[in-house]
Amino acid sequence: MENIELQREIKRLLKEKNGILLAHNYQRDEIQEIADCTGDSLGLSIEAAETNCDVIVFCGVHFMAESASILSPDKTVILPRFDAGCPMADMISADILVDKKRENPEAAVVTYVNSSADVKAESDICCTSANAIRVVNSVKSDTVLMTPDKNLAKYVSKFTEKKVFWWEGYCPTHDRLKAQEALEVKAKYPNALFVAHPECRPDVLELADHICSTSGMYEYAKKTDNEEFIIGTEMGILYRLRKDNPKKKFILASKSLVCPNMKLTTLKSVLNAIVEMKNVVSVPERTRIPAKEALDRMLAVPRDQVLME
Ligand code: 13P
Ligand code: SF4
Repeated sequence: MENIELQREIKRLLKEKNGILLAHNYQRDEIQEIADCTGDSLGLSIEAAETNCDVIVFCGVHFMAESASILSPDKTVILPRFDAGCPMADMISADILVDKKRENPEAAVVTYVNSSADVKAESDICCTSANAIRVVNSVKSDTVLMTPDKNLAKYVSKFTEKKVFWWEGYCPTHDRLKAQEALEVKAKYPNALFVAHPECRPDVLELADHICSTSGMYEYAKKTDNEEFIIGTEMGILYRLRKDNPKKKFILASKSLVCPNMKLTTLKSVLNAIVEMKNVVSVPERTRIPAKEALDRMLAVPRDQVLME
C-alpha cells in the first residue's frame, strides 16, 4: 500500500474505533501529517486525557504511552511498536533509585518525564524539559536529586540556589552532537541562531543562542524575526518548523540527530496495531497512583517563573 492509502485506512479505523492518533515531535513526517495532535510527550498525554476517545494510538516511545495510560487509565493506549523504548529512560531503574534515596534522605527526587512509570512512582515530583527550572525551585528541600538526565540537571543547576546532584543518564541521540560540529555549522551559517535542547552536552549548550524544549522551539522560531536557525535536537522537529515557517530556513546541527527508537514507528506498524488492537500499554494501579501523584505535583507548580518554555 502507498502512504496515502495507509493514511486513509488508519484514519478510517480510528474513526470507527473512536480513537485519536498522537505523534511526538520526533516522529516521521508521514505520521505527523495524519496526527490529531503533535507535541511533546506530556503535552500530548494531557491533551489525550481531556478528550473523550476510547483509544489512544501513541506514536512515540514506551514511557510516553505509559504517561498517557497513567493519566487515562480507562482508555486503551496503543504503542504501535512495542520495542520503541528510550535508552535514557532505561538508564535508571526503580530499585537503584530506592537505594539512592536511602543514601540521600535529605534530597527531593525530581524525575524528568522521560522515565519509566516505576521510576516516576519512586519520585517526589516530575519535570519536563520545559519546566525543569521552575519545578526544582519549587521543592521544599535544599538538595535535589535529578534523574535520569545529567545534561538537563547540569543546565538546571545554573538557575537555582539549591544543591543539585544527578543520575549519570543521558540521551544517546542528543549526545551525538559534539561542540566541534556545532561550531562548524555555526561558521557555515553565521547569520543563523543556534537553538538547542537541554538534553545536549553542556559544551554544546554553551554555544547556543537559545535553549528550550521541543515545544519551545516552535514558539521561538515563530516569534523571532531571524530567517535562519540551526536546530540542536532530533530531526523530526523539522517537519513542523518548516511547515509553520515556510519563509525561514532550518538547518539540522548534525546529521546524526536521529533517534532510532522514534523512527521505528511507520504507517504500516500503526495500521497493524490498530487492526489487531495490539501492543496495549497499561500501568498497574500500585505504580500508576504514585506515578500520577508525581505528575500531578508537577502540574500544580505555578507558572510564574518561565525560563525555558
Ligand atoms: P520534549 O519533547 O519534552 O522536549 O522531549 C524531548 C525528547 O527527547 C523526547 O524523547
Ligand atoms: Fe529517548 Fe533521546 Fe530518543 Fe528522546 S530522543 S526517545 S530521550 S533516546
